Amino acid sequence: MSIHQSSNIKRITTHILQEMKMRGEKISMLTAYDFSMAGIIDAAGIDIILVGDSASNVMAGHETTLPITLDQMIYHATSVVRAVKRAFVVVDIPFGSYQGNSSEALRSAIRIMKESGAHAVKVEGGAEIKESVSRILSAGVPVMGHLGLTPQSIYKFGTYTVRAKEEAEAKKLLEDAKLLEECGCFAIVLEKIPARLAKKVAAAVDIPVIGIGAGPDVDGQVLVVHDMLGITQEFKPRFLRQYADLQATMTKAVEDYIKDVKDRNFPNEGESY
Ligand code: KIV
Repeated sequence: MSIHQSSNIKRITTHILQEMKMRGEKISMLTAYDFSMAGIIDAAGIDIILVGDSASNVMAGHETTLPITLDQMIYHATSVVRAVKRAFVVVDIPFGSYQGNSSEALRSAIRIMKESGAHAVKVEGGAEIKESVSRILSAGVPVMGHLGLTPQSIYKFGTYTVRAKEEAEAKKLLEDAKLLEECGCFAIVLEKIPARLAKKVAAAVDIPVIGIGAGPDVDGQVLVVHDMLGITQEFKPRFLRQYADLQATMTKAVEDYIKDVKDRNFPNEGESY
């Protein structure tokens, strides 16, 4: 049975994503980390769900993405995969599980694919992780690259400001994007770089380029779901469009519940046995 035949819903594949780039259809991508959220996003028609290591921030409350472990990423990914019927599910390989050693990179990718049932992995970096990328790809695991602001390297950058504004860094980023394509990556995320450079990268490679803070002239967009739904409120970079204010909605609902409990308004007769 092919992966398209398991239900009536046609699953998104790397091939479909490639076709979308070719015909100029923009690719939509959001993060998710749990069953309930992934189910809502998938049913709404998102193309790619990223089980991002931003789970370290929005799910676990860490300041950076560095502390999250491979086991924790697999736990989140497994919950997401259980909910998803159509979207292509990509999982971040966390910091320390692929950078220095291509054998470890392969082991990490295989664990994610085997234990979670996800469809691909994402890694941060270019030339410096070429061996790890190639090794993972050699096992038949699709790899998404991630260039520009790469949060796993935040202590090297020292700041979350826009990357690749200078000529030398822009040149390396373009070279890295071409290298990732040559290695066989199926797509690349570009984070927080000048829109002009992102446009140049998207035109220079044939694989889909998904932007976050990279302007409109790329093949798709990704946001962290907690940020775009307004669940998190502290993080308000220029690139973030907030589509809802769920923090306010949820706070009001919880306040109303507390009031009803205190006032003996809940449960009423119809809510009792
Ligand atoms: O972890 C994450 O959420 C990401 C996106 C910001 C692209 O890598």
